[in-house]
Amino acid sequence: MVSETIIPLLFRWIHFVAGVAWIGLLYYFNLVQVSFMKETDPATKSGVILKLLPRALWWFRYSALVTVLSGMALMMAGGIRNTAIMIGATLGLIMFLNVWLIIWPNQKVVIRMTGDATATKTPAPPEMAKHARRAYLASRTNFFLSFPMLLFMGASAHFPQF
Ligand code: HEM
Repeated sequence: MVSETIIPLLFRWIHFVAGVAWIGLLYYFNLVQVSFMKETDPATKSGVILKLLPRALWWFRYSALVTVLSGMALMMAGGIRNTAIMIGATLGLIMFLNVWLIIWPNQKVVIRMTGDATATKTPAPPEMAKHARRAYLASRTNFFLSFPMLLFMGASAHFPQF
């Protein structure tokens, strides 16, 4: 039956692709961008914040949304309800909430403050560092959560002993 074979396969495929886009950007932020920003000059830094970051964060948060929605659809369509997926999906959900409720709102403030400072040629307000720090800590948390999350995600279908 199509609803038992093709539909779950379609959801699974969408889920992988969106998950790769999301976690790929997460790894880029944590493994590449953070250290690059530490050692780059102020002009390049504001260029990255104003031109690169909004684009990267758009793909980041919407790929996170598609990953979670397709994951939930897959759970329902495939009737998947084992311990591994419950743990994996809970970790994924915490990571998703981190993206939408901590990383994005704080990065939005950083982008706005950097834009204002560049337009008026004044230094960015000191509280910008606080917002950047919060976003950074939530992103680091997601980086570390991604490892057990992916382990349990894969265990669901490939480690039935769990
Ligand atoms: C709330 C979030 C999530 C939910 C509800 C969810 C749900 C699911 C479900 C139901 C499966 C099928 C498991 C099975 O067939 O037994 C699955 C598989 C998978 N998920 Fe997620 N997932 C979530 C987050 C993520 C994230 C963030 C990633 C990141 C890449 C991801 C990557 C994968 C992969 C690679 C598989 C394939 C496992 C396999 O078939 O071997 N998932 N997910």
